[in-house]
Amino acid sequence: DWTMRAFREEAIEKIRAQVGKGKVICGLSGGVDSAVAAVLIHEAIGDQLTCVFVDHGLLRLDEARTVVDLFRNYYNIPLVHVDASKEFLGELAGVTDPEVKRKTIGRLFIDVFEAEAKKIGGAQFLAQGTLYPDVIESVSFTGGPSVTIKSHHNVGGLPDRMNMKLVEPLRELFKDEVRVLGRELGLPEVFVGRHPFPGPGLAIRCPGDITREKLDILRNADAVYIDQIRKHGLYDAIWQAFAVLLPVKTVGVMGDGRTYEYVVGLRAVTSTDGMTADFYQFDMKFLAETATRIINEVKGVNRVVYDVTSKPPGTIEWE
Ligand code: XMP
Repeated sequence: DWTMRAFREEAIEKIRAQVGKGKVICGLSGGVDSAVAAVLIHEAIGDQLTCVFVDHGLLRLDEARTVVDLFRNYYNIPLVHVDASKEFLGELAGVTDPEVKRKTIGRLFIDVFEAEAKKIGGAQFLAQGTLYPDVIESVSFTGGPSVTIKSHHNVGGLPDRMNMKLVEPLRELFKDEVRVLGRELGLPEVFVGRHPFPGPGLAIRCPGDITREKLDILRNADAVYIDQIRKHGLYDAIWQAFAVLLPVKTVGVMGDGRTYEYVVGLRAVTSTDGMTADFYQFDMKFLAETATRIINEVKGVNRVVYDVTSKPPGTIEWE
């Protein structure tokens, strides 16, 4: 793709011009965007870049292994793997407001990046895989209605006191363009084709307060759901799919006993840029089979519902 080849070369020049001889910390989230940003920046400045993968305790099943494998084994890009789940889950305990969750997570990410920057003798820059839609949905439009829909953790979620300058080479791109750029940079297809995963992770798929118990249930339900989607050959037809754990228990019956357990919501959408989306029209047999599997295989769940809201009026994530 010649447009992306030109973009790649131009972006590399811009990164070199901005960074000079400085050091850059790049946060990896497990998503495509931050991975593409990191590979691009590494191409531009080599070992002036340090990648940091923060396990905030809000990752999907096997996420950490997938990301660490890609960077260390496939690209040979050095990667610091920080387990900060205690700090994140500690600060998030009892927090139920979605914007407070997002801001807390944004602040803690910066704490981790600043600590890592110190360890390498100071870094002047923080790199992120911010895309154009992240920017649009986080800022208040001038001349339009002054509302923030969500503070994306890497835009509106950043604390004011951050003293590293931002390097955001994907800021003008949409998701589909990032994928083209990722292929151009040689990222493996399994990684480029992954569904988006938000920086705040499972925190925004767990309405209400977040506990380790709930996160475990959510992770397991999500893994069964995605497995079902892959087995039915639907993964690439769907733009993004995930499970949500509702903060409510309902009554059920299993064998001859009463159950009182959580409800799992399933979300799947088609979209091109994430700014608008349609809910995915599964056939009922698929949904029935998936619900049965989740209830049988995931302890703590006795009911499954499917979200049939498009965006607008819903957003893709529930918070
Ligand atoms: P919404 O829920 O706003 O999501 O319709 C649109 C797309 O953006 C992702 N998303 C985020 N990605 N940091 C991210 O990196 C965030 O804070 C964030 N919030 C939402 C969401 O997964 C969807 O793909």
